[in-house]
Amino acid sequence: MPGERADVAVVHDASFDPRDVIEALLGSFSLKRVTLDSPLGTGPPHARLCILCVSLTSDEVFRRVRKVLGHCGCERLFIVPTHNSGAISRLKELDILDYLVLPVDPDHLRRLVKEALNRPVESAWEALHPTARRALKSGLACFETCYAKVRDGEPLPMDDVKASCDHICAAAELGGLDGWIAALEGHHDYSFRHSMFVCGALAYFAGSIGIRGVDIAQLTMGGLLHDIGKMQIPVEVLDKTAKLEAGEWAVMRKHPVYSREILLANDGLDEDTVAMAVHHHEKLDGSGYPYGLSGARISDHVRLAAIADVYSALIDKRSYKAAMTPEAALDLMAGFKGHLDMDLLRAFRSFVLDTA
Ligand SMILES: [Fe+2]
Ligand SMILES: [Fe+2]
Repeated sequence: MPGERADVAVVHDASFDPRDVIEALLGSFSLKRVTLDSPLGTGPPHARLCILCVSLTSDEVFRRVRKVLGHCGCERLFIVPTHNSGAISRLKELDILDYLVLPVDPDHLRRLVKEALNRPVESAWEALHPTARRALKSGLACFETCYAKVRDGEPLPMDDVKASCDHICAAAELGGLDGWIAALEGHHDYSFRHSMFVCGALAYFAGSIGIRGVDIAQLTMGGLLHDIGKMQIPVEVLDKTAKLEAGEWAVMRKHPVYSREILLANDGLDEDTVAMAVHHHEKLDGSGYPYGLSGARISDHVRLAAIADVYSALIDKRSYKAAMTPEAALDLMAGFKGHLDMDLLRAFRSFVLDTA
């Protein structure tokens, strides 16, 4: 969106061709390219991370880099073209001890960029209530382990999943869904953020209406795992920052079936929790996917998962769309009559607007 803060500003001098750096990041991050030699080159780059691709061999470039650093309070990453001793000692003068030298490994660079973008979000968790902090940290660790296990074709770490869900239920007992959502906003891993939004919406809502024991545990776990099948979707589709094309949507719509395969390969998951993952895109009028279930064949657990899923997607900001306010999202959802359960939606609405 025009005027939006980009994920990454690639700032380079005239002698540094940043093509490989940009190619490695394109599609996964929103980017802007800034040249140090342009009149704007020394202004604030207006991005969450500034990657400085600089030779640092001339006094003028060094002066301009200093100026950029003075302007930008965001995370920084340095890339130099060679192990030139003059450039390295100038980096030290700027207190920069970590830097990359060309050629950069694209996967390594993407990982560093993701970590840099997530650092301020995860650091802010330190200021939260210890119960909420523990829930967020264990959710992240659990999500990353699940991702690795699914990619390697191994069973899910169910003990970790159960422990994380217990922590999330404990956080929900504190109340304040808006604080939970705010703590996750800006985390670059959309799948993690979305799963935690959905899981939080279900746990906080269920807790607020007195649901306890097995039911809240199922809803929380179903929320956390509801899109687990997306971990089998190719990264270029899953992490795409732009809107998906029709063919990519067809790939993405396979995720509930992948979820079914993944979850049924694990012992100890009950039918209701699995159903939340497999059926949360079904619609009451039978027009959903993957099986076109309708009416009474869609359980209350699944109906709640569908509400939390749609709500979480609407209030989240993507590079191609702004976040909706809770009220606007709920107003829009009130029109989804053949899709969502209107009685449950009314209860969820009053929870969000009156108590969250
Ligand atoms: Fe989904
Ligand atoms: Fe989802």
